[in-house]
Amino acid sequence: MITVTGATGNVGRPLVQALVEAGEEVTAVSRTASRAPEGVRFHRADLTEPRRLAPALEGSDALFMLTSADFMAGGDLGEVMAVARTAGVKRVVLLSSQGVASGRHPSSMEDAVRQSGLEWTVLRPGNFASNALQWADSVRDRREVAAPFGDVALPAVDPADIAAVAALALRRPGHGGEVYTLTGPEPVSPRQQAAAIGDALAEPVRFVEEARDRARARMLGFMPGPVVEATLDVLGAPSAAERAVSPDVERLLGRPPRTFADWAARHVTAFK
Ligand SMILES: NC(=O)c1ccc[n+]([C@@H]2O[C@H](COP(=O)([O-])OP(=O)(O)OC[C@H]3O[C@@H](n4cnc5c(N)ncnc54)[C@H](OP(=O)(O)O)[C@@H]3O)[C@@H](O)[C@H]2O)c1
Repeated sequence: MITVTGATGNVGRPLVQALVEAGEEVTAVSRTASRAPEGVRFHRADLTEPRRLAPALEGSDALFMLTSADFMAGGDLGEVMAVARTAGVKRVVLLSSQGVASGRHPSSMEDAVRQSGLEWTVLRPGNFASNALQWADSVRDRREVAAPFGDVALPAVDPADIAAVAALALRRPGHGGEVYTLTGPEPVSPRQQAAAIGDALAEPVRFVEEARDRARARMLGFMPGPVVEATLDVLGAPSAAERAVSPDVERLLGRPPRTFADWAARHVTAFK
């Protein structure tokens, strides 16, 4: 059995699907039962109340750990790890962030997993391709993308590739103590992302450069303040490491990472 937290999200949903397709038994965890993935056991729990997670971990050998912004604000991952260890979990795969390597995000979540006594693997993805979903309304309404730093390119990673690497590390030995940096195959700027969404729609999508202050005000609607600042810093002035394509997805999966155009084509209905 493998327990997947964040099971209804951008990474969790394809991860549950990949594990089921590989013949694994899965327990999916999130706070909202109405969005539960079909065909697997579902356990409703809030990660900020670790003891309530215990039933979701019964019989599980491995745990996929997602730490959301909500969780960062009020949770204690050390407690979650203690509950997992008591339940008999052997292996944990943490969805962390490349921002930890660059010092933009705190390392406390990774520290808790490293100190858990479980076999651990840390995934550090860069900017997600699915962040483009924040443009879904404006693309639907007026075929427009407004974003800051329109020509700064980052190698956006497809959450389905993060899920594929997570599935590998959850199912097979040999990934203990490893930290994987996960990116897409090439840097792609917001302006190029808007064009790729237009290609997927077979209709032009206009790009509008957004001022940093305006972007900050918009992002504060769905992210905590410190995360907004760190995100704007990466988007506007990425380090060489944040602009670089990591070899890890291809090395682990034996195929190149998926492109942003591929992500846009698979998610085109969100923009229609
Ligand atoms: N976006 C990026 O560019 C980026 C880059 C690097 C790293 N990351 C990391 O990736 C993670 C986000 O992954 P994602 O995009 O797959 O997330 P997502 O799509 O926002 O989904 C979050 C999932 O976690 C669940 N969840 C949220 N808060 C919870 C809580 N307190 N207790 C239990 N479940 C909770 C949600 O379901 P319910 O709401 O129903 O509970 C949902 O299943 C974050 O840790 C972020 O730091 C993101």
